[in-house]
Amino acid sequence: MNRYSKVIGTGGYLPETIRTNEDISRHVDTSDSWIYERTGIKSRRIAGADETASSMAEIAAIQAIEMAGIEAGEIDLIIVATGTPDRVYPSTACLLQERLGIQNCVSFDIQAACSGAIFALSIADKFIKTGAADKVLVVGSEICSRLVDWTDRGTCILFGDGAGAVLLDSADEVGILSTHIHSDGEFEDLLYCPNPQAATEANKDEAGFINMRGNEVFKIAVNTLGRIVDETLAANDMEKTDIDWLVPHQANTRIIAATARKLRMSMEHVILTLENQGNTSSASVLLAFNEGVRDGRIQRGQVVLLEAFGAGFTWGSALIKY
Ligand code: ACO
Repeated sequence: MNRYSKVIGTGGYLPETIRTNEDISRHVDTSDSWIYERTGIKSRRIAGADETASSMAEIAAIQAIEMAGIEAGEIDLIIVATGTPDRVYPSTACLLQERLGIQNCVSFDIQAACSGAIFALSIADKFIKTGAADKVLVVGSEICSRLVDWTDRGTCILFGDGAGAVLLDSADEVGILSTHIHSDGEFEDLLYCPNPQAATEANKDEAGFINMRGNEVFKIAVNTLGRIVDETLAANDMEKTDIDWLVPHQANTRIIAATARKLRMSMEHVILTLENQGNTSSASVLLAFNEGVRDGRIQRGQVVLLEAFGAGFTWGSALIKY
């Protein structure tokens, strides 16, 4: 009998504080209309001083566990995707395991920038398909606001904080149809965030802040995401019309619209959260997926294409029969 990974629960968490484009334009030379026209973003959420990637992950995870109707102790594996871990170690996944009161499971973090959730889903799917795990919790949790240089108008307008979660279980009917993940370090200088603890004299001034050549990243993202759509459809012998929903990484509406055009899909079939969340990096796809599931747009049996592109560069997709 074939083993598949089936989505049995989703969850999401957004911090309370809202930072609007107007708020940002009081501190840097920008405007609401520039930001909205170029990115599709109007506001983003900012984590409170006492919040961490693991505290936000916990709330999203509990929602997913409750939707699934299981006990946390039944989870075999926790994978947290984050570029903003609470600590260098233990992993945020171990801290989440403790928060959820799970004594006996495997937990680890992965770091693939904005593609983190897709990478985590891909790993989770392989653990399930090989029989190494049954119930797997995948979380993307990010406090991007602490990596942003709030004086750099090229990046501070883009990012926000939040956490998204998906709970998978082994099943004999199809769930995740396929995942596709890629990396290429060639363009590492186009988008990076230096680690302050590894800073040298030469780069100590920029340490800890997101550094991006946005326009170049934009062009590569559009082309790469177009290719991942083709790769995913071909691997499943599917047509564009077989996709019911596109759940993209929420970086820029113009990048998302280009991917939708590639699928000949109207924007009504795209789950968009960007306007009020900004780019929450590895949390964004899972937050959008959760929103589509919880508001009833994504129905059981429908085919959903999740995709993301991020620093590395990293990129990937997950095709799911929900
Ligand atoms: N307000 C006003 N003007 C601005 C702002 C701003 N916030 N930011 C830049 N500008 C100016 C620039 O200085 C430039 O001015 P100039 O022509 O006088 O030199 C002009 O606007 C055009 O700048 P571009 O960078 O070419 O603007 P662009 O249209 O490319 O938009 C943006 C910038 C929104 C950052 C876009 O490039 C983008 O979304 N890039 C992709 C981001 C992304 O997808 N990242 C990947 C995921 S993130 C991750 O993995 C962590």
